[in-house]
Amino acid sequence: MKFFLDSAKINEIDYAYNTFGIDGLTTNPRHIMESGKTFINAVTDIAKWVKDNKLEGVDRFPVSVEINPYIEDTEEMIRAAEEIAKISENFVIKIPCIESGIAAARRLEQEGIRTNVTLVFSAAQAILPAKNNSLFVSPFIGWKEANGEDCRKYISDIVEIYKNYGYYGKTQIICAAVRTGRQVVDCAVAGADIVTAGLAVFKDVMNHAYTTQGMGIFRNAWDNTAKE
Ligand code: E4P
Repeated sequence: MKFFLDSAKINEIDYAYNTFGIDGLTTNPRHIMESGKTFINAVTDIAKWVKDNKLEGVDRFPVSVEINPYIEDTEEMIRAAEEIAKISENFVIKIPCIESGIAAARRLEQEGIRTNVTLVFSAAQAILPAKNNSLFVSPFIGWKEANGEDCRKYISDIVEIYKNYGYYGKTQIICAAVRTGRQVVDCAVAGADIVTAGLAVFKDVMNHAYTTQGMGIFRNAWDNTAKE
């Protein structure tokens, strides 16, 4: 399973790459805003970080960058995506899962610009991006579960549909807005390709109260071991 960091902050990206070995990055307009930079500065700095770390290539370290969310016209979406894609070969363009977005993603993939169809909230929505060869599809987990839904069937339905029709692995499933360790496990058990989450989630997932307790037990034993 691959782990992507969901952030546009260079200090977080650097930390998550060097500590956890994350496999890629996702951003969205909220993360860009939280970086405190303009859109262009935020994505240019990410492109520079990728180069400085010798991670060039969409297969090595994909970075999803979302187009202006106000754009709803297919041609305008394509133009916006083309501009962003010029900045780095690692950029995968996030397009919302609406009718004009599906058309834009389809055309962009035909042009060789890789896409991530985002804001997916049903298994039905996940089918067309795969038929049209998007590199990624992003079903949101945390937003649905925050509203009381259990996402296990949602994720496993998408995996099953992709397996039924040969899309599995070709259009990779990024479980997005993952907030908890249990959600990470649900995604992994279902067979999702990727989980994307904020840095705090990765830090949480690494920890367990029994691990801390066990460290204390073993330290105590170490201290009380015969010295000679
Ligand atoms: C995924 O690609 C999105 O960037 C992300 O997970 C959206 O949700 P969040 O910003 O609420 O975490």
